[in-house]
Parts: sequence; C-alpha cells; structure tokens
Amino acid sequence: MPNPSRAALIDRLPKAELHLHIEGSLEPELLFALAERNGVAIPFASVEEVRAAYSFFNLQDFLDIYYQGMSVLLHEQDFYDLTWAYLLRADADNVRHVEIFFDPQGHTERGLAFETVLSGIERALKDGEVQLGISYRLIMCFLRHLSEEEAFATLDQAMPYLDRIHGVGLDSSEVGHPPAKFSRVFARARDLGLHVTAHAGEEGPPEYVHQALDLLEVERIDHGNRALEDAALVSRIADEGLTLTVCPLSNLRLCVIKDIADSPVRRMLDLGLKATINSDDPAYFGGYINANFHAVAEALDLTEAEIVKLAENSFTGSFLPLTDQARHLNEIAEAVHG
Ligand code: HPA
Ligand code: ZN
Repeated sequence: MPNPSRAALIDRLPKAELHLHIEGSLEPELLFALAERNGVAIPFASVEEVRAAYSFFNLQDFLDIYYQGMSVLLHEQDFYDLTWAYLLRADADNVRHVEIFFDPQGHTERGLAFETVLSGIERALKDGEVQLGISYRLIMCFLRHLSEEEAFATLDQAMPYLDRIHGVGLDSSEVGHPPAKFSRVFARARDLGLHVTAHAGEEGPPEYVHQALDLLEVERIDHGNRALEDAALVSRIADEGLTLTVCPLSNLRLCVIKDIADSPVRRMLDLGLKATINSDDPAYFGGYINANFHAVAEALDLTEAEIVKLAENSFTGSFLPLTDQARHLNEIAEAVHG
C-alpha cells in the first residue's frame, strides 16, 4: 500500500546523489536531438524504439547500449546540455549535492579532447551551483575492461585539470577485471590528493570488495551488494563506517536482484551499514533518485526514521567538508519537522 506521508517525506528531504554516471542520464529525447544536431546515425527510428531496447539481462547488455549512446556526444555544448538536463531533474527531486562520475575514455577513444568533455560537464555544474544551489564534486572513472596502461594514460591526460577533478572511480565490466588490476593507478591518484572510490560487488564476488578496500584503499564502495555474502567483510565495512552507494532500480534492471524487495538496502540498514540510495544511470533504469527511494521504501516498508537515515548518509558519505555536511543535516532536521 502506498504510504502518502512516507512518500511526501521522501520528496521533501534534501539529498545528495553519490552514484550517478552523467552519460547514463542521456534520455532518449536528448539522444535523438543530439543525433540530429550532430548528424550522427543511430539504429533507432523513434524514442519508443529506444526505450524498448532498454531491456537488459546483465551489466554487459546495458554497457553495450550505454557506450553506443555516447556516440551522439561530440561537442562541449552536448556535454553541457546532458549535464544541465540531469541537474534540472535532480533539483526537482530536491537533490542539493551531486558527486558525478564521468567516463573520459568513452569519449577520448572516439577522438574527442579530454577538455571538451570536462569543460561541458563542469560549465553546467557551475551554472547548477549558482542557479539551482546544487553543489558538486566530479569523479573521473577508469573503464576497467581497458588496460592499466590506458588508465595511466587517462590520468596523464587529466594532469592539467586536477584542480577541477575531485576523485577517481572504477566502472564498466566488473567480472574478470578485479580492482587489483588498477592498484598502481589508484596509488598514483591517491598520491595526487584525489578521492578514491570503485564499483565493487555489483556482479563481482566479495573478494573484489576486499581488493577495493585493501589495494585501492577506497573511501566508499559503489554498489557493494555482494559484500553481504561475507560476514567478516560486513563487520569491516560497519566498523570502518564505509558508505555504500546502492542503486535499487539499476540492480533490478540489470538482474542483480530479481525483485525490488530483494534490494540489499534493508539488510544493510539492519546490519548497521551506511547505505545510500542513488540512481546510477537513470535514463536507462527507469527512475531518478526519488523514484529509487519510493521503490525501496514501499517494497521494504522502510520507516520514516530509516528514510531520514538514508538521506543523512548521503551527506555524511559525501566528499563535502564537515561544516557543509552539518548544514545539510540541519536542513534534513528542518524538513522532517516542517
Ligand atoms: N556498473 C558498472 N559500470 C557502469 C555502470 C554500472 O552500473 N553504469 C555505468 N557504467
Ligand atoms: Zn554505477
């Protein structure tokens, strides 16, 4: 049964989104508009056909379409439009802070300049800060299906822009590409003062989460579902207060879970883990952050206190300074009482 007061609470709570691939926010309408504007041929005749193609059996199925979608992004303005469209949706869901992933290798491989990608995304984020009051951090991901050498080359390309990039992440095809493959790249990123996070335990085994912690020294874990299979790992994540960026609708659409009621959020909260709710690739998975909150709140019958905790975790798990986190926590308290 929908619970109206719980639903209203979700909508009015301030939130941070910590797991969002900006290229995964490319809605079919914008995909079409950019294909036309840039003269790029796409294998779909209509927006409906595009949406119908968004049916996936696993992560790789999705990634194949996700990388294909990127082909319409050619110019700085395209990255601006993509990011601005996401920020408007985030604002409508009362997202006050975003930590956005981008995949430079998905673009430089196609011949685009690193700067084109970075500048378009960043210009929109700056406008979002001024016009919408949404603060941001930018996280550059390495594609784990590519080599260590290519990751190092990407980090080299980023060197002139390190004052504009806040962290590094690790995404793309997980199984067969363990975190260990990128130990040295992440060590270099940490030495450069960058924050570090990595996708682990989405499809890959608990061992990959161990590696992300031990070898990459990540500050948080993206997804982390399969960490729950390992009791010692669960204790470690709880003791260290590590944040998990869970993506419920993504898990459902990528068949990581069979039913939204199987979302790990309930067990993570019960085990004292710092879970957060995020949309991952909302254009492909059927919902932005509030849709993810609503889906799990209903399926898992989350209490209002649990929903507030998830919103609080999104700020305390962010890379914001403690003073900013405290301000957002105050705003959450005001939203609860108001
Ligand atoms: N997992 C791994 N790589 C990704 C994802 C994801 O959910 N989205 C975009 N790249
Ligand atoms: Zn992701």
